[in-house]
Amino acid sequence: MQINQPLPMLAGLSPTEFMEKYWHKKPLLIKGAFKDFKPVLTRAELFRLAESDEVHSRLVEYLDEDDLPAWSVKNGPIKGKDKPAFTRAAWTLLVQGVDLINKDAANLLRQFRFIPDARLDDLMISYATDEGGVGPHFDSYDVFLIQASGQRLWRIGHQKDLSLREDTPLKILANFKPQKEYLLSPGDMLYLPPRYAHEGIAVGECMTYSVGFRAPKSDELARDLLQRVADETQELIGSKVYADPKQTAVVHPAQIPEALQYFAMQALAKTIERPDVFARLLGESLSEPKDHVWFQSSATAYRSSPSNKHPYPAGVRLDDQTKMLYDEMHVFINGESWRATGKDKTLMRLLANRRTLSSAELGNASEDALDLIVNWVDAGWVHAL
Ligand code: SIN
Ligand code: CO
Repeated sequence: MQINQPLPMLAGLSPTEFMEKYWHKKPLLIKGAFKDFKPVLTRAELFRLAESDEVHSRLVEYLDEDDLPAWSVKNGPIKGKDKPAFTRAAWTLLVQGVDLINKDAANLLRQFRFIPDARLDDLMISYATDEGGVGPHFDSYDVFLIQASGQRLWRIGHQKDLSLREDTPLKILANFKPQKEYLLSPGDMLYLPPRYAHEGIAVGECMTYSVGFRAPKSDELARDLLQRVADETQELIGSKVYADPKQTAVVHPAQIPEALQYFAMQALAKTIERPDVFARLLGESLSEPKDHVWFQSSATAYRSSPSNKHPYPAGVRLDDQTKMLYDEMHVFINGESWRATGKDKTLMRLLANRRTLSSAELGNASEDALDLIVNWVDAGWVHAL
């Protein structure tokens, strides 16, 4: 991606300028970010997705019963009878991870790859009837809100008071004080940094796409890494038995020996003090597919032939659900890791960054690298073009 070229989707800023001036700092409204924007699916298709157990969806209804505004939430799958009439106002359906099942949604998400893949999360699509929305709230992550169809009024405010109401199942700000409002039409986009108060209200029927990000929490990341370390303890530090030839006779038998405390501390420290192991475990963790993801192989039997160096005459591409990352020493794909060196390292990095390899590029792969790619095609992680 050209990171220094001005982009219409960033209001004429280059990705470099956008990251410097706005990312994680302040909102940006981009009128006409996407010219002639075409929704990636119809209303009927969105509701069909919401019927599936494999997809995370929520139905949120605004209830104007008492003096205080209130909301009801139903988690998916959302089947026919759960869905209010389209003629009824003030409800919304939200479907997450549409990029995992819809090619055009995946391509739209890819336009944001000037931000590292390890941070990019998913594309959520919401449909709302007139006045529908999820109420005034803040998100913990950055978000790009793309208006896909119809219009939505966004009210936003930079406020310190982020206290939440305690009487609703949704996270609703107790004291929302909007400072600005923007009416978004199809193709417009609003970027909001984390913890920025906002509320989107549908003006007539509308659909909004949210490009969401993930930011690991330090405690959750540490727990995940420690779990992975725990699974490999024996390979990492062996299984040395505690020995105490210098143990003296004791008059206080209940007291834990200091040498045993030291032995335990050393054992623990050794499991986490190797940067190469730590980097591998982190990459495996970050490239782990989400829970409900499963892959379907499109492979036909691999026939090796001496005249044909590889079986992919048109090249290969990563499946839209595949997460492929790398660091200095490793290549990670869907939670697994390999050490790659030399021209295989270059090739694997190219596949991870560009998500596709041409036939000629595959022609340069070593036999080992090609074997891996064939295995990935068998697993449905990679597809022949
Ligand atoms: C929506 O699409 O209604 C919600 C998006 C958001 O506020 O983050
Ligand atoms: Co939000």
